[in-house]
Parts: sequence; structure tokens; C-alpha cells
Amino acid sequence: METRTRLGLLLTCAAVLGAGPAAAQGKTAAAPAATATPETIARGDTLFHKSGLCFACHGTNAEGGVGPNLTDADWIHGDGSLEMIVATVTKGIPKEAAKSKIAMPAKGGSSISDEEVKAVAAYVWSLSHK
Ligand code: HEC
Repeated sequence: METRTRLGLLLTCAAVLGAGPAAAQGKTAAAPAATATPETIARGDTLFHKSGLCFACHGTNAEGGVGPNLTDADWIHGDGSLEMIVATVTKGIPKEAAKSKIAMPAKGGSSISDEEVKAVAAYVWSLSHK
């Protein structure tokens, strides 16, 4: 019994210690600013190709179609920073502001959440920041 309790205590300590860095990371992810962690990028990849509808205009490899190439260093609507991409995807681009005179609907016309916009933006950002 005594040994069991000690082992239990030891395991609890190990769990708490192990959770330390993970808990700290969770805090960062919950911060208001978007972050490009491998997890958000992977999530954004799926969103880009599925419910976010981005692939429909930017192509499956994001190299362009109706919408511009998102994998190079050329940005029409800002500096290509993560914040700029989040803002652009959130608001969309009105026809008048579009270089191609083709509008991009807010969130690509999809119904993804604000949290998902941050993830898809992290994925797009990662394409030109390798
Ligand atoms: C209906 C077509 C369409 C869909 C769907 C769409 N876009 Fe776009 N997107 C465009 C067009 C068109 C432009 C560029 C307008 C212009 O010519 O200035 C653009 C521009 C952008 C830009 C700015 C590029 C730059 O060079 O500044 C980003 C970033 C972007 N789209 C990301 C996304 C993401 C992420 C999604 C999915 C949530 C998405 N788009 C869905 C059509 C689309």
C-alpha cells in the first residue's frame, strides 16, 4: 500500500511537470493575436482546402487562380504579415480595392469562425515563410 501511494505521488508529480510547458503553450495560443504554431498551420491547411473554400479561387496549391498566388513574396494588399493576412481574410476585398477588379468575399464567402480565420491565415503565412 505504502509503495503504491508513493508511486502514485511520483506519477502525479511527473504529470504536473510534463503539463508545465504544454499549459504555457496553451496560454500563448489563447492570446488575442494569431500565432503560427505547427498545430494552427496544420489546421489552417485543412480549412484552406475544405470548409474555408480558399482553394476554389487560390488553387489547391495556393499558387493562384481567380485569386492571386499566396505562396510568393508579392503582396497586393499589405506586407504579407500574419496580422495583414488575418485582417484581409476577415474583411475580404471589395471589388473597387481589388487589383484584378475581382472581389474576395469576407472569409472567402465561407462560414468559418474568427478562430478558424486565424488558423487559415497562419497556413497562408507559412507558405511564404519557410
Ligand atoms: C471567390 C474567390 C475567392 C475565395 C473563395 C477566396 N479568395 Fe482570397 N482573394 C481573391 C481575390 C480575387 C483576391 C485579390 C483581389 C485583387 O485582385 O486585389 C484575393 C486576395 C487574397 C489575399 C491577399 C493577397 C495579396 O496579395 O495581398 C489573401 C491573403 C487571400 N485572398 C486569402 C484567402 C483565404 C485564406 C481564403 C479562404 C478563407 C480566400 N482568400 C478565399 C479571391 C478569393
